[in-house]
Amino acid sequence: MAFFSSSILSFSTLFLFMLGMASAQLSSNFYSSSCPTALSIIRGVVNTAVSKENRMGASLLRLHFHDCFVNGCDASVLLDDTTNLKGEKTAVPNKKSLRGYEVIDAIKSQLERQCPRVVSCADILAVAARDSVVKLGGTTWTVPLGRRDATTASFNDASKDLPSPNLDLSALKSAFRKKGFTASEMVTLSGGHTIGQVKCSIIRTRIYNETNIDSNFAASLKKNCPSTGGDSNLSPLDQTARVFDNTYFKDLVKKKGLMHSDQQLFNGGSTVSQVNTYSQNSAKFFYDFGCAMIKMGNLSPLTGSKGEIRTNCRKTN
Ligand code: HEM
Ligand SMILES: *[C@@H]1O[C@H](CO)[C@@H](O)[C@H](O)[C@H]1NC(C)=O
Repeated sequence: MAFFSSSILSFSTLFLFMLGMASAQLSSNFYSSSCPTALSIIRGVVNTAVSKENRMGASLLRLHFHDCFVNGCDASVLLDDTTNLKGEKTAVPNKKSLRGYEVIDAIKSQLERQCPRVVSCADILAVAARDSVVKLGGTTWTVPLGRRDATTASFNDASKDLPSPNLDLSALKSAFRKKGFTASEMVTLSGGHTIGQVKCSIIRTRIYNETNIDSNFAASLKKNCPSTGGDSNLSPLDQTARVFDNTYFKDLVKKKGLMHSDQQLFNGGSTVSQVNTYSQNSAKFFYDFGCAMIKMGNLSPLTGSKGEIRTNCRKTN
């Protein structure tokens, strides 16, 4: 009798434990009954936005990265400042730099019409990032879903947890190590810089003062990035910045990285061989990128009854 009751107890404990695990786990079919059109709605808005402006695909990819690296993938990055909240949008890495908020709003308003209070802003960011990469020529991955939205955001954490473009290799490695990523995954994720643009203010020191840069390349960048002024003039992040491909890595091998942090990956350190591999094998880069994006999307999601499903991605309910 004692045996039976203790095994019933341990079965129910195990069952509750597994339920707890299940609620903490994201799943790719999370909306298949609650909002079967969710994924096609997101894809439709992303495709329209990227067709209208190619760079938007890059901006949406970056939004998901900046969400996940600051207290996890919880859409905290989307909260506007209020009198009670100094959010993430005005932190140095984001201010006058992060973009794409209007596209997320457009997706959210369609989703609220179709399936009110069901699809989180954090999941919208994860799916929009994937759809952007696909639209720009990358290969797809399956996005785990079921994240919920934060009711708070952190200016301070956004200021310290997002890596600066002035970092050297060892500091880049530790910024990613802090979030649970290997140096190899850091190299893979940096391949996100195969699309999009960068401001003159960020590359100026590199193009005027660094030596590990192709001199013709530096000269050509100076035309659009004078030594003083023109701070917000844009340059493409690689030679084919409208397309998601492995050109970013080919460029690093040619000393044509845009930012200091980019070229650090191919500057005699431990990451050189991986950059060489990706520069010759885009299929390997694409496969690894999907895996690393899934891992990034798993950074401390709010699940179960934690957080909320915002009705407007810019504010808490
Ligand atoms: C390795 C450390 C990283 C650093 C230091 C870094 C830094 C930056 C900076 C400074 C910019 C340009 C901002 C501006 O000019 O306003 C930028 C742009 C961008 N970053 Fe990163 N980033 C890193 C990693 C990543 C990762 C992991 C991803 C995505 C997987 C990513 C995706 C992008 C994209 C797509 C853009 C272009 C955005 C646009 O054109 O709107 N970055 N990054
Ligand atoms: C380049 O280095 C010189 C000497 O250290 C410095 O005066 C100058 O401001 C630097 N220029 C840029 C664009 O960083």
